[in-house]
Amino acid sequence: MAFISSGYNPEKPMEGRITDIGPQHYAQFYPPVIARNKGKWLYHEIIEPGVLVHVAESGEKVYTVRVGAARLMSITHIREICEIADKHCGGHLRFTTRNNVEFMVETEEAMKALRDDLASRKFDGGSKKFPVGGTGAGISNIVHTQGWVHCHTPATDASGPVKAIMDEVFEDFQSMRLPAPVRISLACCINMCGAVHCSDIGVVGIHRKPPMIDHAWTDQLCEIPLAVASCPTAAVRPTKVELDGKKVNSIAIKNERCMYCGNCYTMCPALPISDGEGDGCVIMVGGKVSNRISMPKFSKVVVAYIPNEAPRWPTLTNTIKHIIEVYSENAMKYERLGDWAERIGWERFFQLTGLEFTHHLIDDFRDPAYYTWRQSTQFKF
Ligand code: HEM
Ligand code: HEM
Ligand code: SF4
Ligand code: SF4
Repeated sequence: MAFISSGYNPEKPMEGRITDIGPQHYAQFYPPVIARNKGKWLYHEIIEPGVLVHVAESGEKVYTVRVGAARLMSITHIREICEIADKHCGGHLRFTTRNNVEFMVETEEAMKALRDDLASRKFDGGSKKFPVGGTGAGISNIVHTQGWVHCHTPATDASGPVKAIMDEVFEDFQSMRLPAPVRISLACCINMCGAVHCSDIGVVGIHRKPPMIDHAWTDQLCEIPLAVASCPTAAVRPTKVELDGKKVNSIAIKNERCMYCGNCYTMCPALPISDGEGDGCVIMVGGKVSNRISMPKFSKVVVAYIPNEAPRWPTLTNTIKHIIEVYSENAMKYERLGDWAERIGWERFFQLTGLEFTHHLIDDFRDPAYYTWRQSTQFKF
């Protein structure tokens, strides 16, 4: 297609330039019933999985239908969301903090028409376009990252495993049978973009081999001191190497100190680390961000390595499904996965789930590792 100017003049890039205007004010997009009752809500109820009602002091009600979404979506799909909002909701809608979509209406009849319309829409491949669910003590959307779609540091994909996991746990998106909500998040490298470190179940892409060193380019492409300072275990040091009879400044890595975090590659393009067979996922469990009953918790590594098995990641999805089943059979009402594991003791968690306890799971990172060991005779055989 031929070039079409927006009116921007590359000869005078600063002319007519608009900056620092920030986002649109959210109140511009409120449905009228939300605008009228803002700050005056009395109570709410979950009517059925995916459907909420909020009642205001004025007596007015707003019904919300929550639907799953793939997060990564085409403009065609967004237009269909808009079409639904135009048809049922006066053109209004919103996205949640877990990237679900919520449609709001004012009456129960309108809610039912909306819900049934949403539930009926499918892609040609058969997947539901707008599955209703994600409320209460179930499994809502998976907070996830870019994976092989867009990032350069991943050790696994994001969209692929998320689809595979949601297919496996789909019934729990559309029901509320668990002791408490189970938040699943996925990050494709240990930068942990998103919420893996504070989720009931977190999946994180990991490497198992040290970076390669592109000596010819190291001093050309990188600020070497930055790469040195990027290493959490001080495995990186500057060095000189001989390359085709020429001495060049480069980097040396002490392999036995490297734990393959990939941070030096983030800083220095000459240290690529990804590897088809080496890379895979860890599973972490037991994190939460809310203050309900117990304080927020970090998730903890319970499976040190699962290979990448594109496109459906069967070992990963089966292991997650199994952890959820054991949790839901054993935990008490309101108990988050981390609350449960801490109450029964992690040795019981491993016993009940049958997950293998390997030396990888024992913290060995600096002074704080000590506090994760057991300084007590209290444990169960
Ligand atoms: C040692 C480093 C980190 C610590 C101590 C930490 C701690 C926390 C804590 C305590 C929360 C929960 C906050 C709350 O109560 O809502 C949180 C949430 C979050 N963290 Fe981190 N974090 C760390 C690193 C990171 C990194 C590296 C990223 C991304 C690159 C990240 C992204 C997020 C995001 C997106 C949330 C919000 C999750 C949600 O929406 O529920 N964090 N972090
Ligand atoms: C120069 C650095 C970065 C660039 C150029 C960049 C670029 C992008 C782009 C292009 C997207 C895709 C949006 C989409 O099409 O869905 C994205 C999404 C995202 N990025 Fe970054 N990013 C950068 C740094 C980071 C960092 C440091 C973090 C984490 C701390 C991060 C976390 C995320 C997350 C969580 C998303 C998904 C957001 C969503 O829910 O749609 N990014 N980023
Ligand atoms: S988790 Fe790592 S690989 Fe995934 S998007 Fe974030 S930085 Fe990229
Ligand atoms: S991958 Fe991580 S641990 Fe290994 S050398 Fe690079 S920064 Fe250090």
